[in-house]
Amino acid sequence: MTDSDRSRLSVVLVDVNEGREEDFQTLARELAAVLLVKGYGREEVIRDEGDPLRFYAVRHWTDAASAERCHADPSIQALTGRLFQIARVTHVVNGAGRPQANRLLIEDRRARVEADRRSGFDRRTDNTGRKQGDRRTVPERRIGPRRLRHRAGEVDLVGAARRAREHADAAFSHFKVGAALEAADGTLITGCNIENATYGLTICAERVAMFKALSEGHRAFTRIAIVADTDAPTPPCGACRQILWEFGGNLDITLANLHEEKGTHALKDLLPLPFDARLL
Ligand code: THU
Repeated sequence: MTDSDRSRLSVVLVDVNEGREEDFQTLARELAAVLLVKGYGREEVIRDEGDPLRFYAVRHWTDAASAERCHADPSIQALTGRLFQIARVTHVVNGAGRPQANRLLIEDRRARVEADRRSGFDRRTDNTGRKQGDRRTVPERRIGPRRLRHRAGEVDLVGAARRAREHADAAFSHFKVGAALEAADGTLITGCNIENATYGLTICAERVAMFKALSEGHRAFTRIAIVADTDAPTPPCGACRQILWEFGGNLDITLANLHEEKGTHALKDLLPLPFDARLL
């Protein structure tokens, strides 16, 4: 394969939700047909031999401009929106030959998020783990070896939420919470709860993280970690679930305390029958 061929190839990893294989096959055929008819390129879907729910969608673009047009095409966006409802989609190779791949990836993502905000997304991240000299405070020091539960190359989201928690201003409840939100381009945005004398104007860690992220221009997110110093997991409050849903879609929510992870939940399971802009 020459370099120019490779630069016009995109590979997407598709993990189909159980029981939705047929819907996926139908959708994949529709997507492939649109790609072909409109001259954007050719798509082939390869099943992973080791996992019946895992597929690789390989797109051979006609050229870089075709890839751009395809991403901007409302009918493609609608189909991709449907895909996100039945599968987790991860970009493996974004080879449309586009400069600033990350930037364009976000735009691409935004387009699809417009079609359906309840979506999972890429995990292409740099490891932004603990920096040198940025040490845990003594009362919170972990006993025993450091255990990293995240996969190599993935951001230590829980670690970031733990560090963010140290900034919590919880003078009234003394209940400190930290959150770390991952944006679709891999950027990590943290938050902590901030209380004040009126009590009622308190803002939770999750919303601080989300509003910070939105104010920095992020519009698509993959997951969030929430950390509190409790044995039982601390799930997001109702107000935060609503905000996370409306701006983050069906995020993965990892709950953890200072020592261990307490499980990961899809937001749709924590907020069934949600209210959002689609109902207005
Ligand atoms: N809090 C959070 O920051 N996130 C949660 O998920 C639960 C609650 C904060 C709000 C308040 O400052 C304190 O925890 C006690 O409710």
